[in-house]
Amino acid sequence: MIWRYFCFHLLIYYHPIGEIKADKSQPICYEANKDINLPKSNNRYFKNLEEYKANTFSFSYERYCSPSQGCNPMNLFPGNFVTILNLTSDVLETGAFEVNSSDSIISLNLSSLFINEIHSRAFASLTCLHYLNLSDNKIVELQPEQWFGLDNLKTLELRKNNIIHLKPFTFRYLKKLQSLDLSLNDIVYIDDFSFNYLISLKSLSLAYNYLTSIYQNYIFVHLTNLEHLDLSHNSLSAVSMAKFRPLEALQSLNFSNNNMAVFDLRETFSFFEFPFLKLLNLTGNYLDFENYENLPERFTFDNLTIDINENPVHCYYIEKMLNLFQDKVRLAPGRYFGDETRVNRIRCENMGMTEEDVNYLNKFYDKLRIQHYEVLVVYTILIVFAIAYILFVYYDHLQDHPCFRKLYGYSTPFPE
Ligand SMILES: *[C@@H]1O[C@H](CO)[C@@H](O)[C@H](O)[C@H]1NC(C)=O
Ligand SMILES: *[C@@H]1O[C@H](CO)[C@@H](O)[C@H](O)[C@H]1NC(C)=O
Ligand SMILES: *[C@@H]1O[C@H](CO)[C@@H](O)[C@H](O)[C@H]1NC(C)=O
Ligand SMILES: *[C@@H]1O[C@H](CO)[C@@H](O)[C@H](O)[C@H]1NC(C)=O
Ligand SMILES: *[C@@H]1O[C@H](CO)[C@@H](O)[C@H](O)[C@H]1NC(C)=O
Ligand SMILES: *[C@@H]1O[C@H](CO)[C@@H](O)[C@H](O)[C@H]1NC(C)=O
Ligand SMILES: *[C@@H]1O[C@H](CO)[C@@H](O)[C@H](O)[C@H]1NC(C)=O
Repeated sequence: MIWRYFCFHLLIYYHPIGEIKADKSQPICYEANKDINLPKSNNRYFKNLEEYKANTFSFSYERYCSPSQGCNPMNLFPGNFVTILNLTSDVLETGAFEVNSSDSIISLNLSSLFINEIHSRAFASLTCLHYLNLSDNKIVELQPEQWFGLDNLKTLELRKNNIIHLKPFTFRYLKKLQSLDLSLNDIVYIDDFSFNYLISLKSLSLAYNYLTSIYQNYIFVHLTNLEHLDLSHNSLSAVSMAKFRPLEALQSLNFSNNNMAVFDLRETFSFFEFPFLKLLNLTGNYLDFENYENLPERFTFDNLTIDINENPVHCYYIEKMLNLFQDKVRLAPGRYFGDETRVNRIRCENMGMTEEDVNYLNKFYDKLRIQHYEVLVVYTILIVFAIAYILFVYYDHLQDHPCFRKLYGYSTPFPE
């Protein structure tokens, strides 16, 4: 146990959370800067890696056709968007894409190739790559070194793989990444610091995984620019928003279709809020929204929409929310028209309760609580007496002991 804590503190000590040094040795990506809207015809398809390596047409617009040589390049340039259609192995080896002008490739589509393993520095030569599509493969393990060299990557698609566990500093080389899609994997566990160094990230999807809880405190530390977080279709049962504290720029948060029975907005160490959150989707959970009063305190954007459809909420509480939040919080429109038990078309549990009923219940439970409290006090007094009695008897007994007799200088239990 103590070692665990020691290692934890050591880790934090050697990886300062707040400070990231700018990398000065950035490559210059001409293509990336100006030709990002190349026409679709610039997609280049290779049957396999061998064909890709044998290719003699440069991926570099500049090198392929220099304007100083007086040619009109746009019709001729075969492009720098690459799709590989087949692989002979399910492993991407180190330097797999290293060819003469691979540093000019902007988009690489490696989807649906049965890739199982990526060796370290497999993409090392692709320093100007913007898009990398690895969706629909069999990738199980992610390691930091796999992404080495992808200094300009903006979009990484890892949808539909078999990733189970995210480890600390996995994406340390992807400081320009803006969009990361990890949906449709088998993720059950996310370590602290897993998303560290993703300081440019704006959109993160973890939808359709098997997460049951977010109980680590430092999962999201560097994601201060994140705008969209998708945690829908997982198995989250209790969520404490205090763990999401670093996500100050968040605009949409999707918790729909989880098993949430607890949505905790209490602060733990210090105050926190999400001032830009516009959409909070809580559809399809087990929330009753009985403790919602501090919602406007956490989500301070003045036109927040909360979707609470498909939760077991009492109609009474929906009405109360609508009254309380009127101008600050908007409940997403309900999707039920015909149902009898609904408020603003949001289906709810009616149980025929009026405000009077709810007040009665609250009073009843308050009374019950006081009774229990009284019983508790009586028990406490009894226990204190019992302990005092035992101590007393024990002390009495000790007085009889030869040592005590010596100490106090009397020889009989009851000196005359
Ligand atoms: C990426 O590759 C997959 C499989 O080869 C293909 O179906 C898809 O159309 C490609 N996407 C693009 C944008 O070329
Ligand atoms: C990929 O290779 C396999 C086996 O070599 C072959 O059966 C399949 O047709 C190839 N697919 C494409 C898209 O070329
Ligand atoms: C690599 O590209 C440079 C510049 O275009 C060229 O001079 C050189 O011959 C190429 N090398 C190979 C191995 O293709
Ligand atoms: C990545 O590939 C998948 C499957 O081919 C496709 O559906 C998706 O649109 C691609 N993503 C991008 C950003 O091109
Ligand atoms: C979750 O919500 C966001 C924001 O509304 C949306 O873009 C995304 O598609 C949703 N996710 C799913 C799986 O529907
Ligand atoms: C919330 O999520 C549900 C299910 O994913 C979706 O149907 C609904 O449109 C979303 N609500 C909003 C306001 O986007
Ligand atoms: C609040 O947001 C909703 C949906 O996002 C939009 O339809 C509405 O016009 C907004 N209201 C104001 C006052 O901005």
